[in-house]
Amino acid sequence: MAQTQSDLKEATTVPATEVGAAATAAAAAEGNNPSAIFPSYARYPIHLVKGKGSWLWDDKGNRYLDFMSGLAVANLGHAPEKVTAKVKAQLDELWHVSNLFHIPQQETAARKLTEISCADVVFFCNSGAEANEAAIKLARRYHQKIKGTNRYEIITFEQSFHGRTLATLTATGQQKVKDGYLPLPEGFKTVPLHDIPALKAAIGPQTAAVMLEMVQAEGGVYPVDPSFVQELVALCKEQGLLLIIDEVQTGMGRTGKWFAHQHYGIEPDIFTSAKGIASGLPAGAMLAKEYLRDAFSPGSHASTFGGNPIVASAIIATLETMQEEGIPEHVQEMGDYLVGLLKETFKDQPFVQEVRGKGLLIGIGCAGPVGDIVLLGQKHGLLFVTAGPDVIRLLPNLKVSKEEIDQAVSILAEVVAAYTSKEGN
Ligand SMILES: Cc1ncc(COP(=O)(O)O)c(C=O)c1O
Repeated sequence: MAQTQSDLKEATTVPATEVGAAATAAAAAEGNNPSAIFPSYARYPIHLVKGKGSWLWDDKGNRYLDFMSGLAVANLGHAPEKVTAKVKAQLDELWHVSNLFHIPQQETAARKLTEISCADVVFFCNSGAEANEAAIKLARRYHQKIKGTNRYEIITFEQSFHGRTLATLTATGQQKVKDGYLPLPEGFKTVPLHDIPALKAAIGPQTAAVMLEMVQAEGGVYPVDPSFVQELVALCKEQGLLLIIDEVQTGMGRTGKWFAHQHYGIEPDIFTSAKGIASGLPAGAMLAKEYLRDAFSPGSHASTFGGNPIVASAIIATLETMQEEGIPEHVQEMGDYLVGLLKETFKDQPFVQEVRGKGLLIGIGCAGPVGDIVLLGQKHGLLFVTAGPDVIRLLPNLKVSKEEIDQAVSILAEVVAAYTSKEGN
């Protein structure tokens, strides 16, 4: 039976209960008006208003130890001094001019990124999805304009996550992000990770590139096997395919090297970065080898805001702080310490099945759903996230101290114990 106008009204007001407690609370506070924001996020019922270092405060004055860093973004902690000072100074000078002009801060940021990596050229944009979109476009244009072939297809891996634009959600190896968005763009194939025969079978005369995360982060915190990576690199070389590494979450020191592929001793043709690159200002970058430079000729790709003076200053200050303070080395040390402490703390806890990850991107594989553990953690003053239904993901800032790690693990042990005793797990 067709819905009447009043049925439809009913239907649009009822799901208020499904869009998260914060939306419902906000609606109540507003005299039952629903929020003016699309309900595309299930938001936690906490209103954070201030941050410093590893700590956040809500509007009621409660303090939280932040082990999620705005999803791997606030990598130098909240309100990092040098970045704040540099951005404030730039705000007084010049905000935006457009990429029709040379932007010295952007040149410096790009130069610095090439100095810490194998890349020679950089394109700046505003997010991880945009950086991956740029990588996909660059791969196609390289084959079509430089090599004169008709290669366009990108092969990606199951459980990967590459973003939410139409191209990057098609590249993503998880069905849930594609739901309701048909038809998807052509030119993508997904194969199981660590399956060389499946990868070989997927490669055809139309294949342009393979795209990979070195640690599948959103997909459950699974580091990729080094032997698979070596075989993949050899295969790409043999077949004339470009290798794109998505370092949106793993890059900028998160895993204990500037970029995670550096653990594997490989040099991708293209890689992407975003999240922590500007310490919390919206920025992304697509980085590539010299031989890809001319695939993007003037007018072939653009971004209005990409690399503007404000975000470029934040990128420079982020990189300078990380270099001066030896952040990648600190991440390796703290990552080892955190993993060791987690393994020791949970060795007799059957609910915790595995502790895995690289540097300060850590997944705790559990025997059941962990959503309620996240909520319990919040009640005990610790913020962290999931990576899929059964995985607790820890993403402390990259300057985190041993004392803060001790405190976080002690709260986590407490909430896991409380949860499992309640559930009878
Ligand atoms: C590996 C990876 N790629 C791409 C993205 C998309 O980044 P953004 O949300 O900035 O578009 C994410 C975001 O979580 C990510 O983890």
